[in-house]
Amino acid sequence: MENQSTIFDFQAEVGLTKQIGGRKATDELIELCHIGQDNYVLDVGCGVGVTPCYLAKRHGCRVVGVDIRNRMIDRSNERAKREEVEHRLEFRVADAQNLPFEDDLFDAVICESVLATVPDKPKAMHECVRVIKPGGYVGLNESTWIKTPPPVEVVEWVGQDLSGNAQLLSADGWVGLLENAGLRDIVVRTYEISAQNEAVNTIKRYGLRDMLRVWARSLSIYIRNPASRVIIKGAGAAPKSLFEYFGYGIYVGRK
Ligand SMILES: C[S@@+](CC[C@H](N)C(=O)[O-])C[C@H]1O[C@@H](n2cnc3c(N)ncnc32)[C@H](O)[C@@H]1O
Repeated sequence: MENQSTIFDFQAEVGLTKQIGGRKATDELIELCHIGQDNYVLDVGCGVGVTPCYLAKRHGCRVVGVDIRNRMIDRSNERAKREEVEHRLEFRVADAQNLPFEDDLFDAVICESVLATVPDKPKAMHECVRVIKPGGYVGLNESTWIKTPPPVEVVEWVGQDLSGNAQLLSADGWVGLLENAGLRDIVVRTYEISAQNEAVNTIKRYGLRDMLRVWARSLSIYIRNPASRVIIKGAGAAPKSLFEYFGYGIYVGRK
């Protein structure tokens, strides 16, 4: 079931997954999807479970998180226990392209920094739309080409850094995906990225205690596992023009 990339396996091991834009971007998705108290929400590609726990704790939602990796689901369950919200959460291993849920079930589906790495994006979008109730919302936070065409070295670096096989779209490409899946009233907001802001966003999203745990695990893996060193070093060698082309977008539509 799992694809070939190793960066997500590494992230699952250290207990840290990233979206772009940090908590501010998550709050924007929550607001645009009209998510509120007691809503039943699906988080597709939930990683280590940060957003499901936040939705349960801060907004009183019931949340199902799915991820294609077993280890992510283990980490999500650990987090839910730690944050004492496990009674509101359920985590399952599942592929975004084939969601194990009945039609018209959830009030909203959110998906943060996942679809760029999914091979059949139209199928995954169709699945997200299928499982929300009529009138419900799908909200994506996705890596986006904010200027096109991107140079080859940028395309290669982004593909490698995001998952080993990421394929980004322009804002028009993401909007087309939502429209073709039958969503309407589409809202689009695109943003530039800076490496410094993203580092700060990640620290704020996890908090210092979590970050210390992540750094300790990363160091231990770096020492024990030579393969992981390529991932850690690769992330440092970004092309200079990266952020001229590579940004992110918030895309929301209603069923
Ligand atoms: C960049 S991480 C983002 C994780 C999480 N959304 C967050 O905000 O921290 C992407 C996640 O998508 C998961 N993923 C990749 N392909 C998937 C698929 N086809 N179905 C479900 N999850 C997938 C990965 O295992 C990883 O946890």
